[in-house]
Amino acid sequence: MKARHLLAVLPLLWSVSPSAAIELSPMESLGKALFFDPSLSNPPGQSCASCHDPATGWTSPDAGANAGGGVLHGVIHTRFGNRKPPTVAYAGYTPLMHRAGDMAGMGNGTGMGNGGMGPGSGMGSGGMGPGSGMGPGTGMGNMTPDTLVGGLFWDGRASGWSLGDPLAEQARGPFLNPLEQANPNAKHVCLSVMRTGTAVDFEKVWGPGSVDCMKDVDGTYERIARSIAAYERSGEVTAFTSKFDTFWNNSVGKMPPVPMINMMNWTRFKGRGLDDMELKGLMIFNTKGKCSTCHMLQPMNGSPAPLFTDFRYHNLGIPKNPLNPFYDMPRQWNPKGNQWVDQGLGEFLAKTQGMTSGDGADRDYRSLAAANTGRHRTPTLRNVDKRSSPDFVKAYGHNAYFKSLQEIVHFYNLRDVLPLCDSPNPPVDAMGGATCFPAAEVADNVNRTDLGNLGLTPQEGMALIQFMKTLTDL
Ligand code: HEC
Ligand code: HEC
Repeated sequence: MKARHLLAVLPLLWSVSPSAAIELSPMESLGKALFFDPSLSNPPGQSCASCHDPATGWTSPDAGANAGGGVLHGVIHTRFGNRKPPTVAYAGYTPLMHRAGDMAGMGNGTGMGNGGMGPGSGMGSGGMGPGSGMGPGTGMGNMTPDTLVGGLFWDGRASGWSLGDPLAEQARGPFLNPLEQANPNAKHVCLSVMRTGTAVDFEKVWGPGSVDCMKDVDGTYERIARSIAAYERSGEVTAFTSKFDTFWNNSVGKMPPVPMINMMNWTRFKGRGLDDMELKGLMIFNTKGKCSTCHMLQPMNGSPAPLFTDFRYHNLGIPKNPLNPFYDMPRQWNPKGNQWVDQGLGEFLAKTQGMTSGDGADRDYRSLAAANTGRHRTPTLRNVDKRSSPDFVKAYGHNAYFKSLQEIVHFYNLRDVLPLCDSPNPPVDAMGGATCFPAAEVADNVNRTDLGNLGLTPQEGMALIQFMKTLTDL
């Protein structure tokens, strides 16, 4: 009797699980096949998923690497890049890199809705999703016409200017990067795609003759990239199925709206899907913690719910990670050896001489390089705690300096309160928190207004972390 009962229930559970509910379009399915195909590296063995694993929130599956330098080796195992892989989920909402004062640059294909981000206007008027408005402590503070917004990679160099879509533009990179999938050229990737069964699906999606590695390598390669981007944007990757999303959906049309949560009103949000501790964490996130200043609590660019990023660049003053294996890479890839400094966005901008985008707009941003040295793009916090097992180590920050959410919250809270120290591994206090911090890797442009001395109690820090755990997709 009991067994029969179970059997009757099981299929029901299966049918409501979101992964079973996702139906991919033909183009998304093609992109998926390409994303997971280890034969598209040279030698074969490394796919996009090798560094962007669904089980860890589409980022590094290697806890050992996370515990150290945080950087993953390429298909050639002695070769390393220089930064931690960010998640590919939700990246599809990122606009082309543009000056905030330049609406002309917003172009097509970016998914940028009208009224999303008015020129230098802050986030006030229109476009910010259902009944939002500004909560205390939120808003695009310090936005000037010269503030740079958008682009992918930690330093924004997948600007979107050539393809009109940063995500598709990014997908052209890893196959040819000698430190990643190491194919010698696009033709090689094209021929590998032809050898796999995907070539048939390819023609179904893109039409007869759409895989042509002789006469149209560039076109084929672009279609490969656009298919991968379509998969990364699909509901299987960009899922919006977290506990927070349930809370968000339950809040639609109710007062007060979520971006207004504060110390006075937070109990009015009870019963919408978050427990008291999580709600307190969200309240701190939006007030005393100042987190939502950059990890925005509003939908952006047509997203159905917040993405927890402002698509902007900041220098948080994160120390260097001496365990980064890139320091030991041959001169060919790292001419500066252990003197290498990650300059972030500033370094990319310094190379923009003569650059334009598809609409012909001038993208020479060299004059903005100095003001952007040391800045990296605000990552989404969605899936920030997603891990394959409870003891799996995740690393945080572009250089994987932090090894837990506790460590990074401790830094936000006390960076400017604790003394400076030389050791990359500072001594810890009774609660396991660092007692001092090494200096910022890049001293220029460190943000001293929104972080460093937040005055959070240990309970408030814990609540913040509990809240971030609600951002894990099912
Ligand atoms: C060897 C590991 C590795 C492989 C293989 C790899 N990536 Fe990445 N990926 C990274 C790293 C590291 C970064 C960040 C680099 C940086 O910012 O300088 C990154 C960045 C990205 C980003 C940008 C995310 C953001 O928020 O800026 C996307 C999207 C992405 N990868 C997709 C892919 C796709 C698609 C493939 C396969 C074609 C792929 N990756 C293969 C390591 C890898
Ligand atoms: C001034 C803007 C700003 C504020 C305020 C801010 N963040 Fe961030 N956050 C960033 C940027 C930029 C990064 C990436 C920095 C880097 O790696 O150099 C980041 C990284 C993170 C990461 C690591 C994510 C990853 O995938 O590596 C976490 C977690 C995080 N922030 C949580 C918070 C919390 C919690 C607060 C509030 C206490 C907060 N942030 C406040 C801009 C901000």
